[in-house]
Amino acid sequence: MKLSYVKSPEEKTKISPKGNKVVTKKTAIWTKKDLLGLEYLSKEEIGLILDNAKSFKEVLARPLRKVPTLRGKTVVNLFYEPSTRTRISFELAAKRLSADVINMVKEGSSIQKGETLIDTGRNLEALKTDVIVVRHNCSGAAAMLSRAVNISVVNAGDGWHEHPTQALLDIFTLNEKLGNVKGLNISIIGDIAHSRVARSNIWGLTKLGANVTVCAPGKLIPAGIEKLGVKVTSNIDEAIKKADAINVLRMQFERDAAGAFPSRIEYFKTFGITEERLKKAKKDIVVMHPGPINRGVEMSAEVADGANSVILEQVTNGIAIRMAVLYLVTHAKRENA
Ligand code: NCD
Repeated sequence: MKLSYVKSPEEKTKISPKGNKVVTKKTAIWTKKDLLGLEYLSKEEIGLILDNAKSFKEVLARPLRKVPTLRGKTVVNLFYEPSTRTRISFELAAKRLSADVINMVKEGSSIQKGETLIDTGRNLEALKTDVIVVRHNCSGAAAMLSRAVNISVVNAGDGWHEHPTQALLDIFTLNEKLGNVKGLNISIIGDIAHSRVARSNIWGLTKLGANVTVCAPGKLIPAGIEKLGVKVTSNIDEAIKKADAINVLRMQFERDAAGAFPSRIEYFKTFGITEERLKKAKKDIVVMHPGPINRGVEMSAEVADGANSVILEQVTNGIAIRMAVLYLVTHAKRENA
């Protein structure tokens, strides 16, 4: 299997002092021990993850879905919040790379006795593990942990801040379906205010040159979001009309989304994605959702299971993305190495 450890995703043309055209290749080399968010990555680094994920997707298509890349390494899934897809996907990714995996949740661990995140992290490091995949309800938790330990930290969702591997798998799926996100119209619809998925998608998609629109009821649009380079609307038909793809987000009732709308039924009537509404969209519009879906709230069951939906393909692609991330952070070339 070819791994794009060093890749040249971008060519630049310059004119030399003598007037000749010189094509230079900008190479991306992975140097980071952590993946904390797409805000902190260049478009070349994002390209590197996507390229590696392509190679790992080939591994997943083989009868024997396993490579020895991370043999002898240990990955800990440290989850302070519920998760189905993300946790299992990280576990599978680590196992497909032949790493040992430990799953740790709040219940039954010393976190319940009041141990801090940093103490837990330092103890995991003292136990000679190599990567901590962390999900936490506080924004910035992954960054805080990464400063406290020398082993790799991968953010699996921190509060309302970022969920980088989700956005990467969304972009990977879009690339598979539409070729390349550059110049495409992508609308992110739903509970933008509470969504780390929205923020990571905005950082990633805008860096890669997509035109991003966010659409939500006024109360669920964070102040100043347009400074991130997105269009903002509360008109669902406008958000859908020209979109090549829509990424529909869950109403995060556990984070106060309920106060933003009179009732779930009214939300569905005004913002819910239905077959009727999609009649006004491009015929081949790609419909995404990070899951878990509230069927009949942000999307009808017919749309979730319909011909335009790529929701389960997103889930499958998540394993390849997480394999790429685990591979890159554990093989990072340190800048002074
Ligand atoms: C998301 C999350 O936890 O941020 N889910 C996921 O990881 N697939 C989105 C959500 O909870 O709505």
